[in-house]
Amino acid sequence: MRDRLEALRRDGLAAVSEAQDLDTLYGVESRLLGRTGALTAELKGLGKLSPEDRPVVGKLANEIKQALQGALEERRTAIESAELAADLVGEGLDPSLPGAPAPKGGVHPVLAIARELEDVFSSMGYVVWDGPEIETEANNFDALNIPADHPAREGHDTIWMKVEEGSPRRCLRTHTSPVQVRALREFGAPLRVIAPGRVFRQEAQDATHDHTFHQMEGLVVDKGVGVPHMLHAMNTLLEGVFGRKLETRLRPGFFPFVEPGFELDARCPFCKEGCKVCKGSTWIELMPGGLVHPNVLTAVGLDPEEYSGFAFGLGLSRIAMLRYGINDIRWMMSGDLRFLEQFQA
Ligand code: PHE
Repeated sequence: MRDRLEALRRDGLAAVSEAQDLDTLYGVESRLLGRTGALTAELKGLGKLSPEDRPVVGKLANEIKQALQGALEERRTAIESAELAADLVGEGLDPSLPGAPAPKGGVHPVLAIARELEDVFSSMGYVVWDGPEIETEANNFDALNIPADHPAREGHDTIWMKVEEGSPRRCLRTHTSPVQVRALREFGAPLRVIAPGRVFRQEAQDATHDHTFHQMEGLVVDKGVGVPHMLHAMNTLLEGVFGRKLETRLRPGFFPFVEPGFELDARCPFCKEGCKVCKGSTWIELMPGGLVHPNVLTAVGLDPEEYSGFAFGLGLSRIAMLRYGINDIRWMMSGDLRFLEQFQA
């Protein structure tokens, strides 16, 4: 029996080391150590030995069992890692190479400027407010003192919603000015608010006109507010966008919801003697504004004898174009990655 055991060890270890794959190895294992395996059969025969031989042969049989188990385990690990390595080579995969770079997002130029201005104006006590993009005719026009026969109300400029016959008309807001009305109704006076957001117009599109663009409204209502306060706010805003003080001037401008109304021009930030951007004049028209019309204050329930205020409307899209040298407003809403990827965070 001792000889048979030694032969089992020798042949078993040889079979284990010759196995090239896991299936073969499992076969070897069950032939040796399985329920009907060779070594198992020998162990069962131990009972027939004499009491003197039994412990000696038993010890030998156990040693062999452990040796075979150890060899099987070692061989299994070796085959597994060889198979893994072969798989990886087969797939052309080198796990030591660095991973694919994750694409980095950026901030849209309009959003970048809006965020900067929100910081500047929040620090001056303004709240940041917004209204819905679908607006009532009352907020977009009536409360802003825009007369019923004003051409801007009719089809060529405003995108109207389909509503049931007889119910109040609604449109895609044509400017952020209705947020003046909404904020005053929400907070009353005194109030400082800015309202960045999307606006919509039925426009023939070209390099400077799009049907969807961004504005930022500013509004301050308090006792004794006048043009100097407005100028200060507008100049601070431009300093925020261009990073330095620009020389500015006011010209008269007409908007039904301000009186007096102005257009603010700034010295061209790009030249001294006239260039393409300022069309040779060294001035660029940047921002309309004015003192809040008494009719607007009345529409939101304020007494124009007690309160006054100013409002301005910044073209966020246009300002972004100026700051970044973007030559066509249609890039802004294009979603074109060739454009957007130039503005990495
Ligand atoms: N809402 C006006 C527009 O879109 C701009 C404006 C805002 C003018 C506030 C005066 C005061 O053209």
